[in-house]
Amino acid sequence: MSSSTLTFTMPDDWHLHLRSGEMLKQVLPFTSQHFGRAIVMPNLPSPVVTVADAEVYRQEITACIPETDNFTPLMVLYLTEKTDPKDVKAGFLAGKVAAVKLYPAGATTHSDAGVKDLEKIYPVLTVMETIGMPFLVHGEVVDAEIDIFDREAVFIETKLMPIRERFPKLKIVFEHLTTKEGVDYVLSCDQDTAATITPHHLVINRNALLVGGLKPHYYCLPVAKREQHRLALVKAATSGDSQFFLGTDSAPHLAEAKESACGCAGIFNVANAISVVAQVFEQEKALDQLEKFLSLNGADFYQLPYNRQKMTLVRQHKPLSLPENIKIAEGEVLAFDPLLDLHWDVQNPLGMKIK
Ligand code: DOR
Ligand code: ZN
Repeated sequence: MSSSTLTFTMPDDWHLHLRSGEMLKQVLPFTSQHFGRAIVMPNLPSPVVTVADAEVYRQEITACIPETDNFTPLMVLYLTEKTDPKDVKAGFLAGKVAAVKLYPAGATTHSDAGVKDLEKIYPVLTVMETIGMPFLVHGEVVDAEIDIFDREAVFIETKLMPIRERFPKLKIVFEHLTTKEGVDYVLSCDQDTAATITPHHLVINRNALLVGGLKPHYYCLPVAKREQHRLALVKAATSGDSQFFLGTDSAPHLAEAKESACGCAGIFNVANAISVVAQVFEQEKALDQLEKFLSLNGADFYQLPYNRQKMTLVRQHKPLSLPENIKIAEGEVLAFDPLLDLHWDVQNPLGMKIK
């Protein structure tokens, strides 16, 4: 039973982990059914550092896209202190890579090859600023003395502001924003600074992770913060402001790797990402801004055309059931439980092409 429907431009996911091999095969259809394009993170065990690596990875992904779906992966280079500015420039101008991602060394999953000394990457940033190539930032410091809940705010002060000052025209995406400080910083900048926001950071705070027992399936990086920060993210996303757009940061791990003495960071959320976001926008009486956050703002920032396909959401009276977990040979990947009732169901034959 539906009481209303919403039809809008097919969304894009501006921050996604697809992995490789069997995991890729199993998780990709969830993305290709719900999104026209996705910015594919390069933090594979052997990271995607050159344009040639990105081409190989793109082919692996493309081979797994179901025939019914019209999905384009947008490839990203993993920045190292040895990244060659010429390779970056040639790859971007040829349309082979869409962006470059900064992982501070040690910040998260497979970030060991990341950057320790930011000045070493200045030649790459100089080229990127000139050609208008987006610089995607995992915005957390890794210093042992900085509390994990403060890592994003300290990154802004000590790393991001100096980069912004040095490269005033560089297009920067502050990935998976989790703090009010982050929101305020982005709003203080001009249109060359934007941020992705995940579905999970819109609906959970750190209590979901820590109250009533340790809940490893709510552990991700940057870690969820206090409620006041979640509220700031909700306000930013639902405002329709062009500097904020969806990046699911869907990051599948086997359940046993998360339910461990040293559990992996990451939440697999693509199966209900759109429904979660729509629910938040409904709660905020901001459904009129939903298309901007899901489908327009990111494309504008990346200077790409909007998707031609449409998506339709139908509001079901009864709450939707949780998506099924994914089974692969090595184990299971658990789907995100947002801890709230979801009513907006993705309806149309997904990925339907407009003739
Ligand atoms: O929670 C996370 N998982 N955060 C990241 O930055 C990386 C990701 C992953 O690759 O598992
Ligand atoms: Zn990520």
